[in-house]
Amino acid sequence: MKGFFITGTDTDVGKTWFTARLCRFLRQNKIDCGIWKPVQSGFPANASDSDRSILKDIAQLDDSIDEICSMTFEKTLTPFLAAKAEGKTIDWQTLMSHGSLLANKHDCMLVEGAGGIAVPITENKMMIDLAVELNLPVIIIARPGLGTINHSILTIDYLKQHGLTIAGLIMNGYDNTHEFAKSLSEIKNWTSIATNPLLIELFSNQQILGKIPLDNDIVDISDFIDRKKLINLMNDQLN
Ligand SMILES: Nc1ncnc2c1ncn2[C@@H]1O[C@H](COP(=O)(O)OP(=O)(O)O)[C@@H](O)[C@H]1O
Ligand SMILES: [Mg+2]
Repeated sequence: MKGFFITGTDTDVGKTWFTARLCRFLRQNKIDCGIWKPVQSGFPANASDSDRSILKDIAQLDDSIDEICSMTFEKTLTPFLAAKAEGKTIDWQTLMSHGSLLANKHDCMLVEGAGGIAVPITENKMMIDLAVELNLPVIIIARPGLGTINHSILTIDYLKQHGLTIAGLIMNGYDNTHEFAKSLSEIKNWTSIATNPLLIELFSNQQILGKIPLDNDIVDISDFIDRKKLINLMNDQLN
């Protein structure tokens, strides 16, 4: 499989919001990109506001919601427990084969994790094991404000410990227009929000690929991301 694995520093950081829009952006740039959501929890199977429905609608995918996500559980719990609550266990081989089948229909994929990267899927597999098996470069979605340096760097280090390549981070959910610090020497009375991107880049040696405002009316994210970089990172895999 080619593409990106999309994880977050936490649940509710905007993985689905961003993944759907990145896919839409790539498709508008003539890249045949699909989305695989291996497991979703927290929604009735056919809820119109479930991750898989949002991913399909915003990214304008022809794939069915069952192809996009074949394993869906109602309880808002980590996938392992959400499945258990329904008396089910997630079969790893079946799960992975669903991903391969869908990936065969597209040139590349965005794979949206569930929760963060250290999240149990079965009694002995976590989201990190899925990411390692796919071995895709990872995009990390992070919050803009206080706490995000810690969460981002821990996520980066955990991915690196498992041998994964990190494509970069997306800071998602700015609620105002912000000016951002560009160098340490500029920083005086800056807010956490204004300095976090710089500090994350400096301490992690990873790049911020986008800074996205909190605005549900945004469907086209091209003004807020490093367009060239993201397209090149994908095309490098396809060529
Ligand atoms: N940039 C954004 N602007 C507006 N709403 C957003 C943005 N990012 C996320 N949201 C909203 O925040 C909530 C959580 O985002 P979601 O993508 O579902 O998180 P995750 O997939 O990481 O759990 C959703 O209601 C989503 O619509
Ligand atoms: Mg989600």
